[in-house]
Amino acid sequence: MDTTEEQKLKLREAILENREKYEGNNMTFSKSQKYYDMLAEKYEEQLLNANVRTHEITAETVADLYPSDVRDKVKILDVGAGTGMVGSALRGLRFKHIDALEPNPNMLGKAKLQNRYETYFIESVNPEESSSIKNGTYDAITMCATLAEAGHIPPEAIKGIVRMVKKGGYMVIVNRVLKDETLNDIDAVMDSLEADKKMIKVTRKVWPGYNEVTGDFGITWVYRVL
Ligand SMILES: C[S@@+](CC[C@H](N)C(=O)[O-])C[C@H]1O[C@@H](n2cnc3c(N)ncnc32)[C@H](O)[C@@H]1O
Repeated sequence: MDTTEEQKLKLREAILENREKYEGNNMTFSKSQKYYDMLAEKYEEQLLNANVRTHEITAETVADLYPSDVRDKVKILDVGAGTGMVGSALRGLRFKHIDALEPNPNMLGKAKLQNRYETYFIESVNPEESSSIKNGTYDAITMCATLAEAGHIPPEAIKGIVRMVKKGGYMVIVNRVLKDETLNDIDAVMDSLEADKKMIKVTRKVWPGYNEVTGDFGITWVYRVL
């Protein structure tokens, strides 16, 4: 086995071990936040070593919705922004007005250091609490790698996130494909929002190569808010 293969194998073991510990079924939000406290320093390096392009895919998906001459007027909220990789990729595609919502100060601190967003909301989204963000504030919302089997953004919270988007705006969610039960829960929330005429599906697509090292598939949901 050459060094690169050996490194990839080690990285795969580390990612899967962390996932079991911090995203598995028994995970809670506060425990997973402790993990992000620790991970913040190495987060981007770990993803780049695994050739994860989710931040770019998220930004490219948003860019497909807006011609380049209007992008500087589009107001975007990146939910679960982490260290700001999505913000940086969006800026690279000529979006200018991007805010971040992220509960973890260490992760968000990295984004702040690099000025990746305009406004930083240190908060979480969950079905029990309403966010400080007013209804219909944003043209688009991005959520990249923010859904997990547990300890992250609960599927029901998507209902509260949709209300932050202006009518005619978009929700763009890019994630790894989760266990069937969780994926069914997310799709059920999407279906119920569509049935209630809150939004309409533009795309739901599953694609290979989300993470070269773990072999995960990715999934992209794009919805237009009504
Ligand atoms: C895997 S990281 C993804 C970060 C970033 N979106 C990216 O693509 O690099 C998941 C992020 O979601 C955040 N998060 C977890 N639960 C959340 C919640 N309930 N509300 C908002 N963000 C949450 C975590 O703090 C973490 O920064």
